[in-house]
Amino acid sequence: MSKDIVHIFDTTLRDGEQVPGCKLDKKQKLVIARRLDELGVDIIEAGFPRSSPGDFKSVMEIAKVVKNATVCGLTRAVKKDIEVAAEALKYAKTPRIHTGIGTSDSHIQHKFNSNREAIFERAIGAVKYAKSFVEDVEFYAEDAGRTDNEFLARVCEAVIKAGATVLNIPDTTGYCLPEEYGAKMKYLKENVTGIDKAILSCHCHNDLGLATANSIAGVINGARQIECTVNGIGERAGNTSLEEVVMILRQHPYLGLDTNINSRLLYDTSLMVSEKMGMVVQPNKAIVGANAFAHSSGIHQDGVIKNRETYEIMDPADVGVNESSILLTARSGRAALAYRAKKVGYELTKVQLDRVYEEFLKYADRKKEVVDKDIHEIVEKSNIKIES
Ligand code: KIV
Ligand code: ZN
Repeated sequence: MSKDIVHIFDTTLRDGEQVPGCKLDKKQKLVIARRLDELGVDIIEAGFPRSSPGDFKSVMEIAKVVKNATVCGLTRAVKKDIEVAAEALKYAKTPRIHTGIGTSDSHIQHKFNSNREAIFERAIGAVKYAKSFVEDVEFYAEDAGRTDNEFLARVCEAVIKAGATVLNIPDTTGYCLPEEYGAKMKYLKENVTGIDKAILSCHCHNDLGLATANSIAGVINGARQIECTVNGIGERAGNTSLEEVVMILRQHPYLGLDTNINSRLLYDTSLMVSEKMGMVVQPNKAIVGANAFAHSSGIHQDGVIKNRETYEIMDPADVGVNESSILLTARSGRAALAYRAKKVGYELTKVQLDRVYEEFLKYADRKKEVVDKDIHEIVEKSNIKIES
């Protein structure tokens, strides 16, 4: 079955870098941008060029070195922002300006002290102006998650007419439920004249832990771009995690959707971003966390040793992890101990294993995890005769 491609728009270097303490210098940004290009992301949001001279320079350098991906710069619906972004992107093979404005009543009243009509006009003006510099213009309706659908559809229709090629529908506050976010995409697909000329994009924040689920609901309902970050880093609770959406689509082929990502680079990319940003990845993080392919309870270990698929829904090699690990703890059974003992050179008979297991439990009750070095000691203490 031929699959529809969902574009991966990576915003690690823009939304991700907004995290306190995650600031990167230009050199680090260039290393990450090159890696994202290699990984196969379709669009790299390199920064917000008007925000600082440093960000301007980084976007410009990234635009020079990126070979395949579209390079994108963020702006507000402000002329000067758009001019500065166009200048920063001038060396990009395929530049994109990402401009927009808040469309929810909360943003219109409290952020802009304005009204819907004035915001509507500013949105159109920003897209037209960006279009005078680049062909590819993405419009974001900030806080679209809490924006009235009818007004959102009106804005979308108008900015498509003004030349927008992509419509970003951010759940800026991470408020929506998957059904709600999916329904919003469906509503726009069905109610915006000219929607087929533009790509709908998901940009979800993780305040309620729903960023990934919402993005998947978005693409199931017609969006064809997901905005995400490596390890899900980003403002507050973060953005949609790149590795999660890529693997969800790959593990569910019946959805008929896939991405251009080389998933075998996911784990290394996660390590690189974590190290450069000084942001530790939680061990239980899906796909790239240290425990994502580690099995510690006896029942699970026994299953995985017999057949990996009993407790693993993907091959660790597909995401760049060498192999699943069988951890030895007080919850491990004989199968796990025999497996690990064999790995370090002991082929134990059933009788030997019973003896070694007894000794192992004494160790395991004292230690969080029994490691290879301990196995040698345990075997020695068990007083069994090992054939050499
Ligand atoms: O979350 C958001 O709404 C954003 C926009 C600026 C695209 O990051
Ligand atoms: Zn965001």
